[in-house]
Amino acid sequence: MTPITFPDADHLPEAARVDASRWDRQWLCGGEIRTWAGETAPVRSPVCVMRPGAAAPEPVELGRVAMIDRAAGLEALAAAKTAWSQGRGAWPTMRVGERIERMTTFVAGMRAVREDLVRLLMWEIGKTRADSETEVDRTVVYVQDTIEALKELDRTAARFSVTGGFVGQIRRSPLGVVLCMGPFNYPLNETFTTLIPALIMGNTIVSKLPRFGQLVILPLLAAFRDAFPAGAVNIFQADGPQVIGPIMESGDIDCLAFIGSSRVANILKRQHPRLNRMRSITGLESKNPAVILPSADLDQAVKECVSGALSFNGQRCTALKLIFAHADIADDFVARLARAVDALPAGMPWEKVTLTPLPEPGRPAYMRGLVDDAVAHGAKLVTGGAAHGTFFRPAVVFPVSPAARLYTEEQFGPVVPVTTFRELDEIDHFMRTSPYGQQISLFGTDPRQLAHLVDALVNSVCRINLNSQCRRGPDAWPFTGRKDSAEGTLSVSDALRAFSIRTVVATTATDANQDLVGEIVTRRLSSFLTTDFLF
Ligand code: G3H
Repeated sequence: MTPITFPDADHLPEAARVDASRWDRQWLCGGEIRTWAGETAPVRSPVCVMRPGAAAPEPVELGRVAMIDRAAGLEALAAAKTAWSQGRGAWPTMRVGERIERMTTFVAGMRAVREDLVRLLMWEIGKTRADSETEVDRTVVYVQDTIEALKELDRTAARFSVTGGFVGQIRRSPLGVVLCMGPFNYPLNETFTTLIPALIMGNTIVSKLPRFGQLVILPLLAAFRDAFPAGAVNIFQADGPQVIGPIMESGDIDCLAFIGSSRVANILKRQHPRLNRMRSITGLESKNPAVILPSADLDQAVKECVSGALSFNGQRCTALKLIFAHADIADDFVARLARAVDALPAGMPWEKVTLTPLPEPGRPAYMRGLVDDAVAHGAKLVTGGAAHGTFFRPAVVFPVSPAARLYTEEQFGPVVPVTTFRELDEIDHFMRTSPYGQQISLFGTDPRQLAHLVDALVNSVCRINLNSQCRRGPDAWPFTGRKDSAEGTLSVSDALRAFSIRTVVATTATDANQDLVGEIVTRRLSSFLTTDFLF
């Protein structure tokens, strides 16, 4: 295991420095970037540095964020409601072509602050530079692809449909005010994979920043303000129960886009007084297993499992969170796995490393608690498991008993639990009885066994990965889950559908009615009833 060297506070590399004070206490409301004069909260980096004379590395305070209060939160909601104006606001009634132009302006604004976003991700959530760059670049591509998908949707919707004696036009219309809340692990990407499609479809947005990974959105406030009409996007940080509670209780949220835990999603939903009026698009927990069949290429399986379980220290909803190794090869697999985990380099996010500090205070202790519980239930700690401040050396624990917390609980961090199985039915049973249903990875080369498992699992999970780790991408593909793992489906094109509703203008296909519709279209009297498309 490589030792961790903490940087000297006065000698940080130039390419890692960031001055977050530029965005201190900022929030966006009603088309204005405001500076909050009330309560603020410090943003502490999980990256610790050595200060002259200090005995141990100390955390760095990056800046202060505005913790807006209930009244300010309701003001942000009122701004979004005014921008929506029961569907008659400037943004929801704007032609698709103009909405696309606005979004194109916004994405240029994103590109302009790329380096700030990358550095803030490194400092705020400890993501490596390579992964931070990927998050920012992938999000820019996601916005561009969303624009292209909307053009395609608009082209298709321009055609009239003639069916069963009726003629009509079917388009997708926005839902209303959308509350968007993203997670700390992908604070930019996952927030934007709901916020951007919701916005471009003509909805107006209220967005609360995640508890960690909040600064990274602030350099974009100016781009939001400059690209979109006042009140179309409102962004702030606040205490959830104090501010999001009253926003939900107002009954004015038409759609909840939430990435986080099912516990919090359910609290938020229950606060809405007219639940039938609110659509929910959520990305929640998962306990994605990897299954190592006796026929598996163990070198390849280990490589995929290490990356699948420990990329970004295992803090991904798609991470592999429990490995089922067949009893015949389990010892061999675990020995190779432990060697590969031990070889992972740890260090600062700007160094060429895999393992970095964990942003959530208390996470190393929680990880250790899960390991100790598995050991108390008969497992061995094969490697790792030690905390060094905000770092946690990835633990491999084997064999994990079904009675241990690690068998069912989503660890969301650097612990790799391995258990054994003999019969394929055990895998099927695990997935059928799991509260989660996102993805699974199967490693093997026997086509009969793989086919058997695929057929057994397709009604329990939403993606089966053969000889490869679980993952969200490519972003053009559906990303979703069953049971407590998700509601709704997100992909570039699915998200446009998720945040809109099909709306029809129809008439019986008599000559008179067709002439009437024809006149509206040829004289370009309507924005909805039109065969024009701009692309
Ligand atoms: O945390 C959930 C992310 O959407 C996972 O995305 O599989 O690309 O890391 P990823």
